Amino acid sequence: MKTVTLSTLQAFKRAGETFSCLTAYDATFAHAAGEAGIEVLLVGDSLGMVLQGHTSTLPVTLDDVCYHTRCVARGKGASLLMVDLPFMSNATTERLLEDAGALMRAGAEMVKVEGEAWMADGIRELSRRGVPVCAHLGLTPQTVHQLGGYKVQGRDADQAERILEDARTLAEAGASVILLECVPTSLGRAVTEALDVPVIGIGAGADTDGQILVMHDVLGVTAGRQPRFVKNFLAEADDIQGAFRRYHEDVKARRFPAEEHGF
Ligand code: KIV
Repeated sequence: MKTVTLSTLQAFKRAGETFSCLTAYDATFAHAAGEAGIEVLLVGDSLGMVLQGHTSTLPVTLDDVCYHTRCVARGKGASLLMVDLPFMSNATTERLLEDAGALMRAGAEMVKVEGEAWMADGIRELSRRGVPVCAHLGLTPQTVHQLGGYKVQGRDADQAERILEDARTLAEAGASVILLECVPTSLGRAVTEALDVPVIGIGAGADTDGQILVMHDVLGVTAGRQPRFVKNFLAEADDIQGAFRRYHEDVKARRFPAEEHGF
């Protein structure tokens, strides 16, 4: 695979070609995912749940994310490395810039931040300084306590319109990529069609430009009840490398997600 950059994702969007993204937390799995062709790796703050055993992403620190970013950066090969800004990095623009700087120094090539239209100023400042930003909308796990649980967002027309408007505002402010989590398939399609920037979905239907899953879900090892949008690709493969390849190929061919994975 040729080195994946933001321009690669933009070219995919223009060509109507979908791309695969997967979380990664260490060098070995990052290498395996890159070898399988996965275009974007995310050091997600989901590490707080799947690696550290917390019930939410809130306890994850900047140091935790920097550590896993350095590990993934050493193994990632040609994939683009996106990294999550942890809970409260968005508290002030100053803190946002400092925390994003730490992630970029650790090896991030794009940072992901949760927040709605009010994040526009922070995103504008990051993008002015040459930091590519992915804005995470819909179900934002860092606000789980305010949302009252891990629930589908944008089910009613007003809420859907607000998410669409937030996505427009953040893209205009300089977000290079939008990530939509757990929204109805129709809203995933509407946001993807409305924006020029690539839209990545998780539980957002088959029509977004890219798809992302948590690695532990792809390998079927996550404890507890599985959300509807995940699929165990290891169940259909001989080994971990095969599972990553199967996931990548199914995304590229738009076989995943299927209708049953959407809302
Ligand atoms: O932290 C994470 O892994 C994420 C994905 C679920 C998109 O944000």
